[in-house]
Amino acid sequence: MRRIKSLNQKINTVLVLLALGASHPVLAQKSDPNMGIVPAPVSVSKGKGAFKFTPETIVLVDSPNHKAIKFFKEYLRKAGLATSVTDMSTVDKKRMSLTNTVYLNMTFSDEMRPEGYELNIDGDGIELRGHGAGMFYGIQTLIQLIEPGSKGYATIPCGKVRDFPRFPYRGMHLDVARHFFDVAFIKKYIDVMAMYKLNNFHWHLTDDQGWRVEIKKYPKLTEVGSKRAQTRVGRESGPTATGMFDNTPYGGFYTQEEVYEIVNYAAARYINVIPEIDLPGHTMAMIAAYPELSCDKSKTYQVGEKWGVYDDFVCPTEETFKVLFEVLNEVMDMFPSKYIHIGGDECSKVAWKRSQVCRDIIAEKKLMNEEGLQSYFVSRIAKHVQSQQRQVIGWDEILEGGLAEGAVVMSWRGTKGGIAAAQLGHDVIMTPGSGGMYFDHVQSKSPQEPLSIGGFAPLDKTYNYEPVPSVLNKAQQKHIIGVQANLWTEYIATPGKVEYMLLPRMLAMAETGWTPTQIRDYKDFANDRLPHQLALLDNLGYNYRVPVAIGAVDTTMKGSKFTVVLEPSVEGAKVHYTIDGTEPSATDLIYSAPLEFKIPEGSTVTLKTIVVTPSGKTSVSTTAKMQN
Ligand code: ACM
Repeated sequence: MRRIKSLNQKINTVLVLLALGASHPVLAQKSDPNMGIVPAPVSVSKGKGAFKFTPETIVLVDSPNHKAIKFFKEYLRKAGLATSVTDMSTVDKKRMSLTNTVYLNMTFSDEMRPEGYELNIDGDGIELRGHGAGMFYGIQTLIQLIEPGSKGYATIPCGKVRDFPRFPYRGMHLDVARHFFDVAFIKKYIDVMAMYKLNNFHWHLTDDQGWRVEIKKYPKLTEVGSKRAQTRVGRESGPTATGMFDNTPYGGFYTQEEVYEIVNYAAARYINVIPEIDLPGHTMAMIAAYPELSCDKSKTYQVGEKWGVYDDFVCPTEETFKVLFEVLNEVMDMFPSKYIHIGGDECSKVAWKRSQVCRDIIAEKKLMNEEGLQSYFVSRIAKHVQSQQRQVIGWDEILEGGLAEGAVVMSWRGTKGGIAAAQLGHDVIMTPGSGGMYFDHVQSKSPQEPLSIGGFAPLDKTYNYEPVPSVLNKAQQKHIIGVQANLWTEYIATPGKVEYMLLPRMLAMAETGWTPTQIRDYKDFANDRLPHQLALLDNLGYNYRVPVAIGAVDTTMKGSKFTVVLEPSVEGAKVHYTIDGTEPSATDLIYSAPLEFKIPEGSTVTLKTIVVTPSGKTSVSTTAKMQN
């Protein structure tokens, strides 16, 4: 019932109230304090008027070869704005005009927070100050403010922005094991992460259903491990499970050359790529390729074809460690990331419990049980990674049986693991499914949502997640280094569906990671800033879940008179509606002014709405029953 106020029930009138926000960006910027920027900056002071970018505008830079500046040059070229940028050192300062100038300034004496920037826009010009990532993020903010005109012209509203992130770690994960996504798509994914100032791409490269990264020393990992004979159709379990497979071979992997390409592409956008080699569970693809790494060498193993947790996985023998260390060495050669993710989740321990070899290791190493064996396994892997001056990240199961020294914990099974790890003095990345951080979860209760693994993570739940648990004291809270959302792809086979599940929730998560808690405001985000951002994403060719119309709700209301005020959830989109109970489509009535309803006594009018964007994307429908 958000946005619906029941007024004057005595005369049986219910009004649907809505602040008449604007669908045009300039107006939207008037109604929100953040100039439409996502994630909302630390401080914004809106000015009057606008800076006009023209073909005569001079773009001055003091660090022409810096990667952030190169990124901006490329943006300007693509946007058809300035054709050249001028190196400050070539300009006669005395004769320099300060009008019609965009100045990107990396040399300044002010103290600036890590990744921070300052952006000043007035009628005469723009000055952006920041170092490295800060300059890059300032550029991202500036790009969000540029309203393109015809060729060579653009309008940028005046204002001042002071900004820096709340957390140093702002991550987005993608599972490419369950389904594979090509290099072009990974770049597109990285592009949208960069737009919203995320700085870590967690690349889930290996799992039961596929090994997706070339390892030269162990070629069968991809020759065998990247291919599965078929894939589960529909849900794995529950009342709608089909029990069927598609009988279609599936595969794909990244060559080392492609990995370098991605790592460099991401680095140019201040995004670190964290590879995940999921160990010791989730290794069916690995033992299908090298059965000698399993606990029962007499068995043959197949790359996983269904979802869920498998009984079989690698055996913690010296032979396995030797192979894994060599695999990890190649991985560390490819990925300069300070963090290397070693998985650790959902290890069933079934194969270990059946194994005499494991019982012998448990006895020899004086471990308590299989949990102790997992802890021993993770510690050995962690030590190896740390010996190469890297830090390990593991899912929160790595806490069980004792946490490896220096390990960073990703808290996914709620926040308990994260809290415990922070209390032990370990750094923590919060990514709880219960906090709306699992983007494979469904985004609404509508039956029109596509097939998903289940769970429920609507946009407001993701937005309102607070990553720092109040039970931690100040010192422990510092160990929460950031947030991440995860996108597992069992039920996501296409780029379009990845984008549908990612957007717009990723923008909400990005704001959680960047914006100070006290200025986070869901209504301002969803109603005043998101419509413009979604139009930008539409223009850039991204798919996304179109939110239902602002003001539209699934509800039943009692009364004789209703006024319904709606607004498209995407700038430039239209709201279509029916009042006869049928499902609306793009050929139905278009909302253009508040709808007035008088409901005869004993009757019900059913208002159904959808939003249709200019590119034809459609929201799920809403149903409001008005009964008298
Ligand atoms: C996980 O979702 N298994 C980390």
